[in-house]
Amino acid sequence: MTYSYYLWRGQRGADNVGVDAESVTDNPLALNDPPPTAVQEGEPGGAQGTPAWLREIQPASQVSSKVTAHKLVKIVAVVCTVGLLGGLAAGVWFLVRLLLRPAAAHSPAGLGDTKETLFCNVTEDVTVTDPRKVFYRISPENSLLEIQLEKLQTWLPVCYERWNSSLGTLVCRQLGYLRLTKHKGVNLTDIGPNYTDGFVQITSEYKTNLENIWQFRGSCITGKVIALKCFACGTRAKLSRIIGGMEATLGRWPWQVSLYYSSRHTCGGSIITSQWIVTAAHCVHNYRLPQVSSWVVYAGIVTRSSTKLVQHTGYAVEKIIYNKNYNHRSHDNDIALMKLKTPLNFTDTIRPVCLPQYDHDFPGGTQCWISGWGYTRPDDVHIPDTLKEAPVPLISTKKCNSSCMYDGDITPRMLCAGYTEGKVDACQGDSGGPLVCQDESVWRLVGVVSWGTGCAEPNHPGVYTKVAEFLGWIYEMIENY
Ligand code: ARG
Repeated sequence: MTYSYYLWRGQRGADNVGVDAESVTDNPLALNDPPPTAVQEGEPGGAQGTPAWLREIQPASQVSSKVTAHKLVKIVAVVCTVGLLGGLAAGVWFLVRLLLRPAAAHSPAGLGDTKETLFCNVTEDVTVTDPRKVFYRISPENSLLEIQLEKLQTWLPVCYERWNSSLGTLVCRQLGYLRLTKHKGVNLTDIGPNYTDGFVQITSEYKTNLENIWQFRGSCITGKVIALKCFACGTRAKLSRIIGGMEATLGRWPWQVSLYYSSRHTCGGSIITSQWIVTAAHCVHNYRLPQVSSWVVYAGIVTRSSTKLVQHTGYAVEKIIYNKNYNHRSHDNDIALMKLKTPLNFTDTIRPVCLPQYDHDFPGGTQCWISGWGYTRPDDVHIPDTLKEAPVPLISTKKCNSSCMYDGDITPRMLCAGYTEGKVDACQGDSGGPLVCQDESVWRLVGVVSWGTGCAEPNHPGVYTKVAEFLGWIYEMIENY
């Protein structure tokens, strides 16, 4: 995670896994690198940065007195020609570079460039259209399932008639909870006089969509309404923390895990159930299934050094499933699931995160958070010991796809978060980790750290896998594997 200005000579990419210091190659020819300057060109092996063409002709100044005047004239002529041609070439090269350089691609760390940097100023859409016509919720007071119909202001309870557990699962998942944990009919006489505006009855169970399966009722024949409990997620225990610190404290992001491959921190991940971790496909894609045994998942830690302690032996992985539509060039569908051999025990420091609700997009500008053990500085390609956290606002796809940002590279399965001016971002080593947003008091896994051009560069925010697009896939995988 990066907090300060820097120019990352970076991979545009998600392909850099295995990111411990030893394994990182800072590829000088990586995509998006600036073309090398004349000085850089001359540098390798060169004395004090002398350009190669100049070094070649230096011996001319050391010509011995034995050299005849004729030879000298010849050499001077050659020197002049080479010098002239070299100067001309350098001039043309600089001119071309100047003309081709995109105005917004300057590094804020570059000499005097800061003022020149043009920030992408596409304005965010403030109104986003919510496609939902009915809203479901579970009352925090009495656990009753309630529905708000399009044109009504009040929340109506749901009759017990024709209810069953698969409907309960459907409702829980719609709300971003992994499964149903309890459901029962509650006598209307037991819940007091709160509900006077009518009831709703679910009329069909064979739909995967809750939009059109209800009907308004004046009363419930059974005299009972539904109380529901879904799988608890997205909460943190009330723990003390360092005020103003950017280092995370234990329990603040209890769903964050560190995925070790061959004894190295390789990626982040998020706990969604006691046995399933969500991560990025690019984290596991190269390794494939035979190496499942090389992965170890560490949960309930903020310092990686604590993984060496006996009580943190790490969890073995039973299965790795990456989305079969994952495209390593475009980074589309960059999502994977890991199943643990033994289930995690939930504690104050190990807890699952909720998933997004169906059909509910967070608007651009929503304040969300990222966490991870990724690089914190460009010049310091090592994985920090302590988990870092940073707030990042979501950026609408319209803005992120505009020509001043990613110019159409953002697919409907991606979302952007960060700042136009850069400075704060995820980076190598954060991949697979969570982008979470708080909604109705629970934290939801809205994005998975996927890619970005460099890290924390202006106009190049972090790009995340849009988890809301994979809810069906996640539920299907968890059910069948
Ligand atoms: N691909 C990187 C990884 O494997 C994460 C890149 C995120 N980049 C960014 N600028 N947000 O760790």
